[in-house]
Amino acid sequence: MPRETVGVLFVCLGNICRSPLAEAVFRTLVEQEGVAHRFEIDSAGTSNYHIGEAPDPRTVSTAAGRGVRVQHAARQISESDFDRFDYILAMDTQNLARIRRVADRAGGPAEVSLLRSFDATAEDDAEVPDPYFGGPRGFEEVHDLVERACRGLLDHIRQERGW
Ligand code: 4NP
Repeated sequence: MPRETVGVLFVCLGNICRSPLAEAVFRTLVEQEGVAHRFEIDSAGTSNYHIGEAPDPRTVSTAAGRGVRVQHAARQISESDFDRFDYILAMDTQNLARIRRVADRAGGPAEVSLLRSFDATAEDDAEVPDPYFGGPRGFEEVHDLVERACRGLLDHIRQERGW
């Protein structure tokens, strides 16, 4: 039986900066476009460094300045995610490789790609850089990149599904 909702999982290393932001940006976008009921949206990390932690306050405040509410408890990606989600979006090539290693064990149907592959203005293999060790400008830049790629991702999914 076909799944009723489209599952979208965003993945970074710690699940406290980039992927909870992408989750929140994508959720805001689908709400604005009136298609939220069609989606299950979540985020996860490839590491176990921050399990259970709230998003980084710098991510939360940058997003709040743009009207996006980031709320999540960090978790690590697991084999069951490859059955639960249709699209798994990696923030960078290092995490893409880590996701693919879990995918090899899991064997579920999820389509795994780099998030920025859905940004038509980005080059091949473009990444969402890790802002964790940098200054506040990094968080603003990450927000811009994530927003553009999320728009492209939503356009792609709507086109693929004909709605
Ligand atoms: P994220 O950022 O992968 O975007 O959540 C990071 C968060 C924590 C660490 C690295 C990146 N860390 O090394 O603890």
